[in-house]
Amino acid sequence: MGVKFFEDEKLFKLDTPLSTYAISIVYEEKLIAHTYYGKRIGWSGLNYLLGGDNNQTMKLASFREKGSVLDRLPMEYPTSGLGDFRESGVEIYAPYADTENSATDGNSGNRSVNPSANSGNYGFMPSYISHKIYRGKPKLLGLPATFAGEGDCETLEIECEDTLLNINLTLVYNVFNNLDVITRHVKIKNNSQKSVYLKKVMSACADLPNNNFEMLRLSGSWARERSISRVPIGCGHTGASSLRGESSHQSHPFFALVSRGASQDTGEVYGFHLVYSGNFSAMAELTQFDRVRAVIGINPYNFSWELAPSGEFTSPEAVLTYSSEGLGKMTRTLHDLYRNHLVRGKYKNAKRPVLINNWEGTYFNFNTEKLLDIARESAKLGIEMLVLDDGWFGKRGDDNSSLGDWFVNTEKLPQGLNYLVSEINKLGMKFGIWMEPEMVSPNSDLYRAHPDWAFQIPGRAPTLSRNQMVLDLSRRDVIEYVYGCISSVLKSANIEYLKWDMNRPLTDVFSGITKNQGEIYHRYMLGVYELQERLITDFPNLLLENCSGGGGRFDPGMLHYGPQFWCSDDTDAIERLKIQEGTALIYPLSTIGAHVSDCPNHIVGRVTPFETRGIVALAGTFGYELDVTKLSESDKAEIPKQIEAYHKYNELVRGGDYYRVASYSENKMYDCYMCVAKDKSEALVTFVNVLARPGGGKVRIKLKGLDENSMYQDVNSTQAYSGAALMYGGLDADCGWGDFKAQLIHIKAV
Ligand code: DGJ
Repeated sequence: MGVKFFEDEKLFKLDTPLSTYAISIVYEEKLIAHTYYGKRIGWSGLNYLLGGDNNQTMKLASFREKGSVLDRLPMEYPTSGLGDFRESGVEIYAPYADTENSATDGNSGNRSVNPSANSGNYGFMPSYISHKIYRGKPKLLGLPATFAGEGDCETLEIECEDTLLNINLTLVYNVFNNLDVITRHVKIKNNSQKSVYLKKVMSACADLPNNNFEMLRLSGSWARERSISRVPIGCGHTGASSLRGESSHQSHPFFALVSRGASQDTGEVYGFHLVYSGNFSAMAELTQFDRVRAVIGINPYNFSWELAPSGEFTSPEAVLTYSSEGLGKMTRTLHDLYRNHLVRGKYKNAKRPVLINNWEGTYFNFNTEKLLDIARESAKLGIEMLVLDDGWFGKRGDDNSSLGDWFVNTEKLPQGLNYLVSEINKLGMKFGIWMEPEMVSPNSDLYRAHPDWAFQIPGRAPTLSRNQMVLDLSRRDVIEYVYGCISSVLKSANIEYLKWDMNRPLTDVFSGITKNQGEIYHRYMLGVYELQERLITDFPNLLLENCSGGGGRFDPGMLHYGPQFWCSDDTDAIERLKIQEGTALIYPLSTIGAHVSDCPNHIVGRVTPFETRGIVALAGTFGYELDVTKLSESDKAEIPKQIEAYHKYNELVRGGDYYRVASYSENKMYDCYMCVAKDKSEALVTFVNVLARPGGGKVRIKLKGLDENSMYQDVNSTQAYSGAALMYGGLDADCGWGDFKAQLIHIKAV
């Protein structure tokens, strides 16, 4: 495991338990080529995989067809404009050549070209100069990233230089010892005397031979987040992207290249995930030579980063994972990575309090008494925390005003927050609160005092969305103001949870105090990350749940700060099956905010059994989103049972291995997934029969992930089965008569 450099072959070999990634230094120009990524190979000797005549001694510049070589060579971090016409990893605009300080790149012959005429170009060709290999994983300054101790990970840094521009490029690889994961990012340093402009900086690139690949993406819309779709990779580009200033409901900074027909348990899968929450681009290009170049990173749209002399730019981190055992293996690898190496803080491995959120219960229509009524009833049923959602501040009676005015609305809460919270604490419950710190309503004291703090283009009417605007978090004064508001709210009472919402995308991105507008989208994200880092540092006991109009910014970047995310505004149990399936494909269940809500469901009008709603919400953080004082007695009676099930199974759900057994999105009839203890000693199977079938036929489900040689007993009956029988023969699921029925099957090894 780890990183090895084979000096003779000029080959780096990066090994995880079941995968190998190989990089070679090629030609006299010392270009960094991508040699191999796939199933583990025990030996070096991989350079032949690059094809062609490449070796360390040949001089690429002397080739009559240098262009064709550059357009064919698989590259680790491709540049553009010099012969590689495929999707590039980096584009740097040098308005001036650094003539006094630079050498030639050695390829311009007698330099009949005057170097000062070299100004205003995009040429960039970094060559290897050195490397280092060390244990552990450094932090990415100002950016979210996975973390690992010295025993968990080895890091390779390959240092390259473009001698003509005097710009250094560092390719950084972190190789996990116990997970089939390699994380990558790049650093670019300007050693010249003049500013250059980064126009495109991707975080990772891989050039893979095509294996009849399909692209698996997670796309959707508001209330339909992360729906799984697969399309064949055709010639040209296939990808996913966001220009919304957030990772978005519509798209997700992830894709997997999967061999055609790959299933949960079979086939090759290459997963690419970006640890970033803003505009992204994730592309695969099938080229003329039947190779697929995959790149992932910040979207180059409106990106132009001035790199001043001595300045350094660090890209966000990309996560790469390989599985030769289908999608399920990728899922479990990412779950382990994110649970153990991305999520931080007190709740990283802890059970979360069962909460009740008043949003669907009351919307904006509440006061102290109403909230206390809900809390009293909730406490009796075993609910552990009340979360006060939107509408408690400024003059907010609906969603048309007051964002930015983070002081208590005394019409609704005349005795203030502290009184409300202490009354709730007296009931033995915790208290949580909602804020939307990145936003401002035009109708607010904040906007009236500081209209220039909101993004808007001078002379143009701003594009409103939910009647609100986005604060310019690229500005230091705005960051300080926003942080002051958040911390004074949190200090004003015993607040133990914060729901941080964000209800519109970024538009009109223009900052009044910056000359380089091409930096603002990324600086905005850096501002959000700084705020959240400060928040969790100053309030280490706070449970932070991120949210963006549901799951519009559910991404690895935000998970570095808050251990959970509100998954979707769609709380209908059946819609949630699809949304949670797509989300759980890459995120652990412990991160998925899931609540039981009232029926008819507020988004789709569907009526489902209360029991089913509870079972579906158990595959997440679990809580309620309704007015418990208005529930029928029979529904109310279900709550203590559901909470008991939550406490009983949460350890398994949070820490176990997740197996997808059947998909309602695919079969349109029923859904089935399992959580299996790491030692295979117990498992919880969830089966949801969405549509009943005439004739009452039971569905036989083949369980997964068990020990075939162990005997398992159904906890609710005396029946025992061998692991092999459950996996290869199966088990009949039986939720009885009717649509939308659900069943939990709990088995333990005996
Ligand atoms: C969108 C969130 O997803 C909802 O849960 C709720 O908090 C509303 N915003 C409040 O405006």
